[in-house]
Amino acid sequence: MTEIELRGVQKWFGSLQVIKDFNLSIAGNEFIVMLGQSGCGKTTTLRAIAGLETIDEGDILIDGKPVQHLKCSDRDIAMVFQSFSLYPHMTVYENIAFPLRATRTSRGDIDEAVREIAKVLRITHLLDRKPSALSGGDMQRVAIGRALVRQPKAMLMDEPIGALDAKLREEMRAEIKRLHIKQGSTTIYVTHDQVEAMSLADRIVIMHEGVLQQVGTPEEVYARPQNLFVAQFVGSPVMNVMPARVREEAGSARVTVDDAAEGFQFPRELLMKLNGHAPEDTLALGVRPEGILVSREPREGYLPVEAQIIEPLGSHDIVDLRVGEGMLRARTPAGFVPRAGEQVHARIDPVQAHFFDTRDGKSLGVRL
Ligand SMILES: Nc1ncnc2c1ncn2[C@@H]1O[C@H](COP(=O)(O)OP(=O)(O)OP(=O)(O)O)[C@@H](O)[C@H]1O
Ligand SMILES: [Mg+2]
Repeated sequence: MTEIELRGVQKWFGSLQVIKDFNLSIAGNEFIVMLGQSGCGKTTTLRAIAGLETIDEGDILIDGKPVQHLKCSDRDIAMVFQSFSLYPHMTVYENIAFPLRATRTSRGDIDEAVREIAKVLRITHLLDRKPSALSGGDMQRVAIGRALVRQPKAMLMDEPIGALDAKLREEMRAEIKRLHIKQGSTTIYVTHDQVEAMSLADRIVIMHEGVLQQVGTPEEVYARPQNLFVAQFVGSPVMNVMPARVREEAGSARVTVDDAAEGFQFPRELLMKLNGHAPEDTLALGVRPEGILVSREPREGYLPVEAQIIEPLGSHDIVDLRVGEGMLRARTPAGFVPRAGEQVHARIDPVQAHFFDTRDGKSLGVRL
């Protein structure tokens, strides 16, 4: 049950600041996923926690004790990288046993530990093979086994399955999750694949240009993004975000997006909740594709729109609807809109609408 905490961590490479005032508390046994674009500082943060990289300011605490001055080997943290490096001349068994051989573990205990971890990772039948006779997925299983065999305080994984093909990644994802449930070690897992992040994480840490943007459960970061970056980074297809104007009309609120002629109907309470933000030129409305309700027939509160492009995805379609100067991407049941060019009717589900201030990108926290 190892707790990890980062307090005000800053890191520069020359004049480039790659970690900016980073604060995060990780609970014992928690599975944290760090998600962000290439170059946002994920690997550097992980290496700093492991002790492979120094930090310029702040504290890194393991179980409440500052460790930033400790060497990597004194932190008892295991790390798995994307490019796994197994010793080619050793068997799988010897590769996994290697970290224990350096300690004063007895032969019998080593054997027990290797066989136990091999069983969990389902590679017992491969123990006598050399790495060259393994598939990519099995090699990565061995690399994970080698990292976990000495039961480290924490496990850091940097895109451990990024190099594998899609099907194998899915399989390994399930495996890693199973392993975590069984072994239960504090884990920080880096990826830029959001599906991987959503499916593995207890909490997701979203980073952008060295700045932590939001920490939350997968549900939280999806349903309540704190800013435009998170809103448009999480979710596929991305959240629709459009400049919006809000006014009162016939007892309800009307939200006009992208200078369209007509506005979408919202409950009147939106006017109060926006609290003076409505007349500004800085309001943006965000709505995910599933938050746009589409009807083939005219309906109360729905606006007529043209379906311009239909993207069939098997289980559902993504339909581009022309609204004013812009385009709203809606999710519909497969085949719901029969042809591109049809006129349909759309409305924005008020409870799925997000409002942002475009000056700082922050969510206004308005929920209906
Ligand atoms: N040793 C180094 N010296 C100088 N700059 C570095 C060094 N290591 C990383 N950087 C820079 O720091 C920034 C953050 O790099 P980092 O590797 O942490 O990003 P990342 O989020 O892991 O990206 P990726 O998804 O591509 O792995 C990048 O701009 C990178 O070029
Ligand atoms: Mg990296």
